[in-house]
Amino acid sequence: MTATKTQTLSVTEAIETRVSIRKFVQEPMDQDDLREILRLASLAPTANNVQPARFAVIQNPELQAKLQEASYNQSQVTNAPAVIVVYSDFEDVLTNAELSFPDSMGEEQVKARAAALRQQYGGQDVAQRGQWGVTQANITFGFMMIAARGLGYDTVPMLGFEPDKVKALLGLPEHVQFAGILPIGKRAENGFPHHRHSVERITKFY
Ligand SMILES: Cc1cc2nc3c(=O)[nH]c(=O)nc-3n(C[C@H](O)[C@H](O)[C@H](O)COP(=O)(O)O)c2cc1C
Repeated sequence: MTATKTQTLSVTEAIETRVSIRKFVQEPMDQDDLREILRLASLAPTANNVQPARFAVIQNPELQAKLQEASYNQSQVTNAPAVIVVYSDFEDVLTNAELSFPDSMGEEQVKARAAALRQQYGGQDVAQRGQWGVTQANITFGFMMIAARGLGYDTVPMLGFEPDKVKALLGLPEHVQFAGILPIGKRAENGFPHHRHSVERITKFY
């Protein structure tokens, strides 16, 4: 486990205090904290443990300016010290299926499990299994926001961008699907208070 320099919040505190932030303190991200946020997000669960989420971390004002252009000019993309793009690459999962299983499983079993995985998804087309992959990556995306907040950082999840332009900018293959992009840093505004449905409105108890 990586040690972090930052005081951590409880899960409850992290969830309660996470709000979308679009104006950030103008200082670079602590790189150890950034790594820790990526590591914590990578602990999110996935079906069959296929782990399709991939991250692209951008800490480069010129590239952020181009990303902002591809994001309907939303200014938080350049205002944040870093932007994490979370996407699913299910074709990479299948190509490297052996990596989804721990070495402790033993070579023969890893081979058999990898073959089963390829067979399970091989019948689907690229878009279908890409969609399946992004449902997993969405969970990772959620974990990332809470992990960031837990370490004292703020984020704004974003789907307001043109996927093809972002793929071209980052050199990503056509088949990848985005969970979202996440400007991240320390808040320089308060954001809006949570406005949410009551639990009663959204829940049926049986
Ligand atoms: C999947 C997703 C996509 C979003 N896309 C954008 C976006 O493109 N731009 C933006 O400013 N906010 C975006 N938001 C932020 C929402 O507007 C915000 O989460 C919502 O209003 C609730 O506010 P809160 O995050 O402060 O609790 C997005 C949120 C989610 C979950």
